[in-house]
Amino acid sequence: AMTDDLFTPLELRETEIPNRLMLSPMCQYSCDGLDGLATEWHNVHLGTRAVGGAGLVMAEATAVEPRGRITPHDLGIWSEEHADALKRTTDFIESQGAVSGIQLAHAGRKASTHRPWADENGYVPIEDEGWEVVSATDEPYPYETDHPTHALTTDEVEGVVESFREAAEHALDAGFDVPEVHAAHGYLLHQFLSPVTNDRDDKYGGSFENRTRIVREVVEAVRDVYPDDKPVFVRISATDWIDDEPSWDVEQSTRLADQLSEAGADLIDVSTGGISPKQNIEWVGPNYQLRFAEHIRENKTSDIKIGSVGGITTPEQADALVRNDRVDLTIVGRKFLRDPYFGLHAAQELGQEDANRPPSQYLRGF
Ligand code: FNR
Repeated sequence: AMTDDLFTPLELRETEIPNRLMLSPMCQYSCDGLDGLATEWHNVHLGTRAVGGAGLVMAEATAVEPRGRITPHDLGIWSEEHADALKRTTDFIESQGAVSGIQLAHAGRKASTHRPWADENGYVPIEDEGWEVVSATDEPYPYETDHPTHALTTDEVEGVVESFREAAEHALDAGFDVPEVHAAHGYLLHQFLSPVTNDRDDKYGGSFENRTRIVREVVEAVRDVYPDDKPVFVRISATDWIDDEPSWDVEQSTRLADQLSEAGADLIDVSTGGISPKQNIEWVGPNYQLRFAEHIRENKTSDIKIGSVGGITTPEQADALVRNDRVDLTIVGRKFLRDPYFGLHAAQELGQEDANRPPSQYLRGF
């Protein structure tokens, strides 16, 4: 068999992603108002990466309900109006031969915060544009405040699952091919997975089965909504990077990957961290999260596919990850901020222009 490389299409269900390069979801915190509606910024930002040769353009963490926004200016997908505002973007991505995705998200107790570039850090107070945040627990994220944090009741957890289901319906109507459930980085679903933040004693807390229940239910709900020919992704944090107390780790992640395959997921996007400021990240650099993706890929028992994100910045590096059969999908974040045409430049550098061609309008420039 021929060796797959960065430009070998990836067929998931009956959806063909034209290459193995995904734009990592990256919040832009760029809605004009507090309404979560996409703006010209989102359209140009995502459209440019489709022009730039990402096979899968994954839109940022998009809130499934207003209280799930990380900042008051986050993108939302909780109504048909939100879907309508994103439709031209998915149409454009498709016109460039790329596949569109959207990360469905709920920030839980890490909601209602200032934008990264704001003068202030931490929670936006309720008397300004903030709101009471919700979580698996009533402990606020340890910012230097006592921001009101509500532990969701069992019924309310079921309501959150319904919010994800409805958000998936809106995402489908908006034209997104691939929904990605955001269960990483210390946001709401991760707050349930991790013993660091899950102090519940109902059916959503305690045992591994109970802590993972909400994520399985969300994936099942999204799978219900999405047609059989379209894949569902899940981003997880494979470790909390916490050693001295019960926490989430790569063994639990591997078990979860197989359960999520059963629930209808097709690919696990493997990230790490974010649950607690006490996290102790050993090292950040090229491929810094790859070993977690590889561990899951080598030890899982289902045929779920695995993507790796983190410190992928060069064409050779991304290509080698696929050629050496270490991951099924390479996921690139910050490099795509620096170079929106990274996918085209990668093809050029690897001598594969024919496999990832610039748009006709740009041919004289490449
Ligand atoms: C991110 N990241 C991120 N992750 C995620 O799952 N959803 C999101 O919305 C965001 N938002 C976001 C915004 C910005 C500006 C950055 C830089 C990062 C994390 C991102 O997707 C990626 O996992 C990391 O940046 C690591 O990959 P790179 O950048 O080393 O390729």
